[in-house]
Amino acid sequence: AGQSQDDLKRIAALRAVELVRSGMVLGLGTGSTAAHALDRIGDLLRGGDLRDIVGIPTFEWAAGIPLTNLAAHPVVALPIDGADEVDPALNLVKGRGGSLLQEKMVEGASRRFVVIVDDSKLVPCLGGSGLAIPVEDGIHGDLQAISDDLLRITGVVEHGMFLGLATSVIVARKDGVVLMDK
Ligand code: A5P
Repeated sequence: AGQSQDDLKRIAALRAVELVRSGMVLGLGTGSTAAHALDRIGDLLRGGDLRDIVGIPTFEWAAGIPLTNLAAHPVVALPIDGADEVDPALNLVKGRGGSLLQEKMVEGASRRFVVIVDDSKLVPCLGGSGLAIPVEDGIHGDLQAISDDLLRITGVVEHGMFLGLATSVIVARKDGVVLMDK
């Protein structure tokens, strides 16, 4: 009772941090949900409960986590990031926080990608929040075909649909945490 949306974001984030092990190369997400995870990882590093963590940022801040980049670490063990929308097949809309190209590079460099959301992010289909998809709105039909078409347009570097990248989504709801897995 009395849990705010931000409380739910923190609950999802802390659950994801339980997956972090010493020595991992992490992908550090963008947004208020990811921030809770990064703060917690920073605390665990400072307290000595985690060691030898490096993170590839998708944004500027890093909560005291030593940073690296994809050139030095082309394989990322565990990206953790929020999302703007999550459909039942774990396809995502991302990028409303503004860093989707870097996110897609980091999150595509891993065989795993753990998404952390509160339940307000769940949609029956992408675009379901009624907000524009970064680059284009009103998407219907074959998501992969739409993705391919968008990327053929000169000047479009990336778009905010993340298809098939998420391997699990941790959803915090007022009645508990739900795990969506591939
Ligand atoms: C950043 O570009 C987005 O992809 C974020 O993951 C998204 O905006 C989630 O933000 P919150 O965690 O603040 O809801």
